[in-house]
Parts: sequence; C-alpha cells; structure tokens
Amino acid sequence: MSPETSTFGPAFRLTASTQTVVISFEGTALRVPENVSVVAALLVTGYPAGRRASGSGAQRSAYCGIGQCFDCTMTIDGVSGCQACMTRVREGMQVARQRV
Ligand code: FES
Repeated sequence: MSPETSTFGPAFRLTASTQTVVISFEGTALRVPENVSVVAALLVTGYPAGRRASGSGAQRSAYCGIGQCFDCTMTIDGVSGCQACMTRVREGMQVARQRV
C-alpha cells in the first residue's frame, strides 16, 4: 500500500525514505532512518526503547507512542526525562536509558 492509499491519517503514513542518520545508544553507534522518533529508531534496530523501572530495574517499553504514558522516557543529549516517542532522531544524537 502506498502512502497515498493509506487508510490512516497523515501522522501514521510511512514513507520509504532511504536517508539515514547515525545516533549513539549507550555508546553504540546506530544507523537509523531519518525523520523517525527515537522509539521507532530503537525498535527497528532491536535496542530497548524505554526506561528502566525505578524499583526492580526491569526494562519498560514504549506503550502509547503519543506522549501520554511516559514509559518511553530516556536521556537524550544529556537531558533526562525526554519522551522518546515524541523526539525525532538527529545526526549525532546521544541516547541512553534512565531509571524513573
Ligand atoms: S510511549 Fe507513551 S509517552 Fe512515549
């Protein structure tokens, strides 16, 4: 299905961009598609996309994808508490999990 024939709204249309950027996830360089959220970039590369639970340290994962649940909060470019589902990747971005 082409983006033009998608039944979803514009926010959910996928494009076949071949452009990529390189981000760092906890010191590992990852080449990811440009213009996607940090959550999407981590999910397509197989890395955890979310915070660690404060008590048990268990891995949490993005849940809503629309900025409501805060299970995706990560440290991005040194700033903790960033919602990874609402943040687009940028060249050279530094991403790490955090305990919340
Ligand atoms: S996944 Fe729910 S706020 Fe990001």
